[in-house]
Amino acid sequence: MSEKKDQGVSRRQFLNYCLTGVGGFLAAGMVAPMLRFAIDPALKKAGSAGGMVPVASESDITEEPKSYSFKVKVKDVWTGEQETSQTAWVYKYQGQIIALSPICKHLGCTVSWGTNKQFPNQYHCPCHGGRYEKNGKNVPGTPPMKPLDQYQLAVKDGKVLLGKVEPNKIAGGA
Ligand code: FES
Repeated sequence: MSEKKDQGVSRRQFLNYCLTGVGGFLAAGMVAPMLRFAIDPALKKAGSAGGMVPVASESDITEEPKSYSFKVKVKDVWTGEQETSQTAWVYKYQGQIIALSPICKHLGCTVSWGTNKQFPNQYHCPCHGGRYEKNGKNVPGTPPMKPLDQYQLAVKDGKVLLGKVEPNKIAGGA
Protein backbone atom coordinates (compact mmCIF):
# COMPACT_ATOMS: atom_id res chain seq x y z
CA MET A 1 0.00 0.00 0.00
CA SER A 2 2.84 2.42 0.82
CA GLU A 3 4.32 1.63 -2.61
CA LYS A 4 1.07 2.76 -4.20
CA LYS A 5 1.22 6.12 -2.33
CA ASP A 6 4.80 6.81 -3.37
CA GLN A 7 4.00 6.39 -7.04
CA GLY A 8 1.76 9.43 -7.48
CA VAL A 9 -0.59 11.94 -5.96
CA SER A 10 -2.99 10.57 -3.38
CA ARG A 11 -6.71 11.22 -3.66
CA ARG A 12 -6.49 13.57 -0.67
CA GLN A 13 -3.62 15.55 -2.19
CA PHE A 14 -5.46 15.80 -5.50
CA LEU A 15 -8.54 17.14 -3.71
CA ASN A 16 -6.37 19.68 -1.85
CA TYR A 17 -4.83 20.90 -5.11
CA CYS A 18 -8.26 21.26 -6.70
CA LEU A 19 -9.71 23.16 -3.75
CA THR A 20 -6.65 25.44 -3.56
CA GLY A 21 -6.91 26.18 -7.28
CA VAL A 22 -10.65 26.91 -7.17
CA GLY A 23 -10.24 28.98 -3.99
CA GLY A 24 -7.44 31.01 -5.55
CA PHE A 25 -9.49 31.60 -8.69
CA LEU A 26 -12.48 32.83 -6.68
CA ALA A 27 -10.29 35.03 -4.47
CA ALA A 28 -8.69 36.62 -7.57
CA GLY A 29 -12.16 37.28 -8.95
CA MET A 30 -13.10 39.15 -5.79
CA VAL A 31 -9.82 41.05 -5.33
CA ALA A 32 -9.43 42.27 -8.95
CA PRO A 33 -12.43 44.65 -8.90
CA MET A 34 -11.31 46.02 -5.53
CA LEU A 35 -7.82 46.67 -6.90
CA ARG A 36 -9.27 48.38 -9.92
CA PHE A 37 -11.45 50.56 -7.70
CA ALA A 38 -8.41 51.53 -5.62
CA ILE A 39 -5.95 52.15 -8.45
CA ASP A 40 -8.07 53.44 -11.32
CA PRO A 41 -8.75 57.01 -10.08
CA ALA A 42 -5.06 57.56 -9.40
CA LEU A 43 -4.15 56.43 -12.89
CA LYS A 44 -6.82 58.59 -14.48
CA LYS A 45 -5.59 61.62 -12.58
CA ALA A 46 -2.04 60.92 -13.65
CA GLY A 47 -3.14 60.59 -17.25
CA SER A 48 -5.17 63.77 -17.40
CA ALA A 49 -2.40 65.71 -15.69
CA GLY A 50 -0.08 65.08 -18.59
CA GLY A 51 0.14 68.40 -20.37
CA MET A 52 -2.03 71.25 -21.50
CA VAL A 53 -4.35 71.07 -24.51
CA PRO A 54 -4.83 73.91 -27.04
CA VAL A 55 -8.48 74.93 -27.00
CA ALA A 56 -8.84 78.31 -28.68
CA SER A 57 -7.01 81.25 -30.21
CA GLU A 58 -6.28 83.99 -27.74
CA SER A 59 -7.66 86.57 -30.21
CA ASP A 60 -11.09 84.85 -30.21
CA ILE A 61 -11.62 85.25 -26.48
CA THR A 62 -14.02 88.02 -25.48
CA GLU A 63 -15.70 89.00 -22.24
CA GLU A 64 -18.74 86.91 -23.17
CA PRO A 65 -18.39 83.30 -21.90
CA LYS A 66 -18.20 80.91 -24.83
CA SER A 67 -18.28 77.12 -24.66
CA TYR A 68 -15.27 75.28 -26.11
CA SER A 69 -15.04 71.51 -26.49
CA PHE A 70 -11.74 69.68 -26.59
CA LYS A 71 -10.30 66.20 -26.19
CA VAL A 72 -8.03 64.99 -23.41
CA LYS A 73 -6.04 61.76 -23.30
CA VAL A 74 -6.80 59.70 -20.21
CA LYS A 75 -4.82 56.64 -19.15
CA ASP A 76 -6.74 53.71 -17.77
CA VAL A 77 -5.20 50.48 -16.45
CA TRP A 78 -7.83 48.37 -18.25
CA THR A 79 -8.46 50.15 -21.51
CA GLY A 80 -5.09 51.89 -21.99
CA GLU A 81 -5.00 55.46 -23.28
CA GLN A 82 -8.31 56.92 -24.39
CA GLU A 83 -9.56 60.28 -25.58
CA THR A 84 -12.41 61.87 -23.67
CA SER A 85 -14.35 65.01 -24.53
CA GLN A 86 -14.43 67.95 -22.16
CA THR A 87 -15.99 71.38 -22.30
CA ALA A 88 -15.02 74.70 -20.77
CA TRP A 89 -16.54 78.18 -20.59
CA VAL A 90 -13.67 80.42 -21.71
CA TYR A 91 -13.70 84.24 -21.56
CA LYS A 92 -12.02 87.33 -20.17
CA TYR A 93 -12.88 88.21 -16.62
CA GLN A 94 -11.46 91.47 -15.25
CA GLY A 95 -8.91 91.48 -18.06
CA GLN A 96 -7.73 87.92 -17.46
CA ILE A 97 -8.64 84.86 -19.55
CA ILE A 98 -10.29 82.18 -17.45
CA ALA A 99 -11.90 78.81 -18.16
CA LEU A 100 -14.64 77.38 -15.96
CA SER A 101 -15.88 73.82 -15.81
CA PRO A 102 -19.53 73.44 -16.84
CA ILE A 103 -20.14 70.70 -14.25
CA CYS A 104 -22.61 71.87 -11.62
CA LYS A 105 -21.28 71.50 -8.06
CA HIS A 106 -24.67 70.35 -6.80
CA LEU A 107 -25.21 67.01 -8.55
CA GLY A 108 -23.12 67.26 -11.70
CA CYS A 109 -25.48 68.51 -14.40
CA THR A 110 -24.13 70.80 -17.11
CA VAL A 111 -24.54 74.52 -16.65
CA SER A 112 -24.95 77.04 -19.44
CA TRP A 113 -24.40 80.76 -19.67
CA GLY A 114 -27.22 83.26 -20.11
CA THR A 115 -30.00 80.76 -20.79
CA ASN A 116 -32.19 81.86 -17.88
CA LYS A 117 -33.98 84.99 -19.15
CA GLN A 118 -34.56 86.16 -15.58
CA PHE A 119 -30.80 86.05 -14.84
CA PRO A 120 -29.12 86.58 -18.23
CA ASN A 121 -25.66 87.29 -16.78
CA GLN A 122 -25.34 84.12 -14.78
CA TYR A 123 -24.68 80.44 -15.32
CA HIS A 124 -27.80 78.37 -14.98
CA CYS A 125 -28.19 74.70 -14.15
CA PRO A 126 -31.36 73.21 -15.70
CA CYS A 127 -31.63 70.33 -13.19
CA HIS A 128 -32.53 72.09 -9.94
CA GLY A 129 -32.23 75.77 -10.79
CA GLY A 130 -28.67 76.26 -9.53
CA ARG A 131 -27.09 79.56 -10.51
CA TYR A 132 -23.55 80.96 -10.57
CA GLU A 133 -22.18 84.45 -11.07
CA LYS A 134 -19.86 85.22 -13.95
CA ASN A 135 -16.76 84.33 -11.93
CA GLY A 136 -18.30 80.95 -11.08
CA LYS A 137 -19.38 81.82 -7.54
CA ASN A 138 -22.52 79.94 -6.54
CA VAL A 139 -25.52 82.18 -5.92
CA PRO A 140 -26.69 81.81 -2.29
CA GLY A 141 -30.16 80.34 -1.96
CA THR A 142 -29.69 78.02 -4.96
CA PRO A 143 -28.71 74.35 -4.54
CA PRO A 144 -24.94 74.45 -5.35
CA MET A 145 -22.76 74.97 -2.26
CA LYS A 146 -19.46 75.63 -4.07
CA PRO A 147 -18.24 77.71 -7.03
CA LEU A 148 -17.74 76.13 -10.45
CA ASP A 149 -14.29 74.59 -10.81
CA GLN A 150 -11.67 76.26 -12.93
CA TYR A 151 -9.27 74.83 -15.52
CA GLN A 152 -5.53 75.39 -15.27
CA LEU A 153 -4.85 77.81 -18.11
CA ALA A 154 -1.85 79.08 -20.04
CA VAL A 155 -1.47 81.24 -23.14
CA LYS A 156 1.31 80.28 -25.51
CA ASP A 157 2.00 81.40 -29.08
CA GLY A 158 -1.46 82.95 -29.34
CA LYS A 159 -3.23 79.78 -28.18
CA VAL A 160 -5.20 79.23 -25.00
CA LEU A 161 -4.15 75.95 -23.37
CA LEU A 162 -6.15 74.16 -20.70
CA GLY A 163 -4.98 71.58 -18.18
CA LYS A 164 -6.42 70.00 -15.07
CA VAL A 165 -9.59 71.09 -13.34
CA GLU A 166 -9.00 72.61 -9.93
CA PRO A 167 -11.00 74.53 -7.30
CA ASN A 168 -12.09 78.00 -8.30
CA LYS A 169 -9.58 80.71 -7.27
CA ILE A 170 -11.28 83.80 -8.66
CA ALA A 171 -14.64 83.42 -6.96
CA GLY A 172 -13.11 83.95 -3.53
CA GLY A 173 -14.28 80.59 -2.18
CA ALA A 174 -17.79 79.88 -1.00
S1 FES B 1 -27.32 69.56 -10.43
FE1 FES B 1 -27.19 71.67 -10.76
S2 FES B 1 -28.60 72.48 -9.37
FE2 FES B 1 -28.73 70.39 -9.02
